[in-house]
Amino acid sequence: MFRKITVAVKDHSYDIYVGDGLLDQAGDLIAPLLSRPRTVVVTDENVARHQLPRLKKSLTQAEITFDTIILPPGEATKSFDHLERLLDQLLALGLERHDKIIAFGGGVIGDLTGFAASIYQRGIGFIQIPTSLLAQVDSAVGGKCGINSPRGKNLIGSFHQPDLVLSDVSTLNSLPERQLVAGYGEVVKYGLIGDRKFFNWLEQNGADIIAGNPAARTKAILTCCQAKAKIVSLDEKERGPRALLNLGHTFGHALEAECGYSDALLHGEAVAIGMVMAFDLSVKMGLCPKADAVTVRRHLEKITLPTKPPLSRVNMTADNLFNHTLRDKKMSGGTATFVLVSAIGGAFLSRDTQAGDIRQIFLSALD
Ligand code: GLY
Repeated sequence: MFRKITVAVKDHSYDIYVGDGLLDQAGDLIAPLLSRPRTVVVTDENVARHQLPRLKKSLTQAEITFDTIILPPGEATKSFDHLERLLDQLLALGLERHDKIIAFGGGVIGDLTGFAASIYQRGIGFIQIPTSLLAQVDSAVGGKCGINSPRGKNLIGSFHQPDLVLSDVSTLNSLPERQLVAGYGEVVKYGLIGDRKFFNWLEQNGADIIAGNPAARTKAILTCCQAKAKIVSLDEKERGPRALLNLGHTFGHALEAECGYSDALLHGEAVAIGMVMAFDLSVKMGLCPKADAVTVRRHLEKITLPTKPPLSRVNMTADNLFNHTLRDKKMSGGTATFVLVSAIGGAFLSRDTQAGDIRQIFLSALD
């Protein structure tokens, strides 16, 4: 049993399927999209160990031949070095322009594989099979792909929509607890941006999502994907409302960069801290009731997400963090665009933030 959501992007609509056990039907769902029954699966060592046999069986049953490329897990894999090696392997395997490749893993694998697909022979198709909560609720949908630069997160990339997204909630059962909790940061984001009712539901059901309740997980993934499909359909290339999905990300990316994209701070953890900082900034600017910032912080803490930077493992200064925000992709004409909030569920874009306030928020977070 699975549910389908369509992302209606101009010239490239595609479906997201969400369900428990979907991986076992992957071959049958993918086969009609291929121009010949041949593909390459790109994954990481952890996903290969836990989930690859199921995907292999399903592709084989659908008579699809495939090669597998297994990369190291972790954010450091989103690099030029791995991109170059991946492209070289695809060339060596003789992939043709009308073939499609499969990104089978979390956000790192999806972003890297999608980017490789977007530039391989000027662009080939790809299929997302996200296996982390973060990827199922956010990164696998919407076509943002790319790699990190030592100068900043996701600074090299493209928009390249997948041809299909298959989210099997059962793959979350083998996800390490820390990864699962980190992914929850992106789940909460959808409540905080524009859906107070969903946030209220998360306050009641968030613990069940972490504990492994398939119905709660399915509802959360569907709600996030529906919201994302709507925003991406309106604004594929982030000229306007899609930027709301970056709530907490400017702060979070600065923290990730200072942690060297290491496991000292996972992306979803950085987003959680960044969202708290976005609420604090909004309160400081007199735009949001303090009670809402307190409610958000409490909920994240209950789910065991960090709400402050990991000071014990990394030396950070407010100046260094602030300087990262100046290199953010959301800079335009030398001015930063921040996602602020008027309340839980009331995110909006602002170009009226003051450098002094942002530095102060970093200083308070490091206190
Ligand atoms: N992760 C934010 C976006 O896809 O726009």
